[in-house]
Amino acid sequence: MPARQYTVTPSAARLATSLRDIGYDFATAVADIVDNSIAAGATDIDIRFSADPCRVVISDNGSGMTANALNEALRFGSRREYSDGDLGRYGLGLKTASLSQCRSLTVVTRDARMVPPSVRQLNLDIIDEWDEWLIVDPGHSDSIDEAEAELTSRAGTIVIWENLDRAFPGRYSAGAWAKRRVDILKAKTEEHLALVFQRFIDGSAGRRATIRLDDLPLHAWNPFATAEPGTYELDAQSFDVSEAAHAGTVTLRRWILPARSSFSSPAEFERMGGPLKWNRQQGIYIYRANRLVQWGGWAGMRAIDEHTKLARCSLDFTTALDPVFSINVAKMRVSVPTSLKRRLEKPLHEICQMANERYRRSSQDEARKTRKAWVAGGGTDESAALALLSAAVQTGHYQPLTEMAAVLVAQAPNVARRLGLDRL
Ligand SMILES: Nc1ncnc2c1ncn2[C@@H]1O[C@H](COP(=O)(O)OP(=O)(O)O)[C@@H](O)[C@H]1O
Ligand SMILES: [Mg+2]
Repeated sequence: MPARQYTVTPSAARLATSLRDIGYDFATAVADIVDNSIAAGATDIDIRFSADPCRVVISDNGSGMTANALNEALRFGSRREYSDGDLGRYGLGLKTASLSQCRSLTVVTRDARMVPPSVRQLNLDIIDEWDEWLIVDPGHSDSIDEAEAELTSRAGTIVIWENLDRAFPGRYSAGAWAKRRVDILKAKTEEHLALVFQRFIDGSAGRRATIRLDDLPLHAWNPFATAEPGTYELDAQSFDVSEAAHAGTVTLRRWILPARSSFSSPAEFERMGGPLKWNRQQGIYIYRANRLVQWGGWAGMRAIDEHTKLARCSLDFTTALDPVFSINVAKMRVSVPTSLKRRLEKPLHEICQMANERYRRSSQDEARKTRKAWVAGGGTDESAALALLSAAVQTGHYQPLTEMAAVLVAQAPNVARRLGLDRL
């Protein structure tokens, strides 16, 4: 240690307040609390809203915590080791996500041993008053009593947000305005959680968690519309990534979704447009340990384009690669390492070329239909045409395929039409 040293403890009041603006919105803050529940092995997560007074309660049946672990959990920068695949990372989420929305965070928790639940509160008003990193035993209140009652016979953790001064400022914290606001926040939260925890909700992560919003279970929203018969998947690709001491495998999967005219129903096409709608919902969905962290566009590798709106890809990385992907605290942004970007160029070009083709064909189809010029003859087997196209693009034979198509159109027009090659 250097001979002269000075301890300059941060001002708790100033720092805690400025950490409120670290970049969360309501839905992403709730998602960070749900992350903790999933990391604690929860299979049931209940999110309850009340408007008068405004309160959000997030309850799980995960491992729960001992009294000491709870104190540590409420430290900014909790000290603990992370195992592979753990959704936690910086030891901040519980505090920063909560305080981004409310002034009072209470945690009621109980681990598997049969001891009474522990209760602690992190309260911005108290931190402000004493300018110290304090947590307190808040005593009794209706919400705490209810939470304790819920944990009389099982382990789990209940997070209570009160005094939600951001979403419900001052005189808007009660009454009809607050009720409407709760409905809006609920709808946004539902959309967000259905997308980011899709693989946990539908079990494709290898484990399942039921998430309920005011007692209604969420339905997973799978961005790749894999249940649609017309969705087409190209071959998956894996990339070994290593930088400094960090190494792991990244997996890319690529889908082309059907155009409107080939979707099973117009309603399903609308639903699969997603929260951002078709154009902005295209691109790469980046998953960390099965939890979606970034989507909407091509992560800086291509521009959003109406012609490639049917293309959606997933990119999966493991927590061992966190430093390489520079995940931010709110778990809403990563940066794809430059070396990987270079290797993704070709596969992304392929999927975009094919998506463009499918989009173009569908607009031609539409035009044909409206001109009533679509001649009978069984139509086209669109999946055969896409498979041929896919193989041609991937082997670099797109041009020769178009030449063969021209010959077939001239010599065997029926075959060309059946395979959809007459429109290449
Ligand atoms: N719902 C929960 N169940 C069990 N433990 C929890 C829960 N929420 C938080 N914790 C504990 O508190 C710690 C701090 O959480 P957090 O501030 O979100 O940071 P991180 O998740 O990055 O570790 C977690 O590492 C975990 O040990
Ligand atoms: Mg966390």
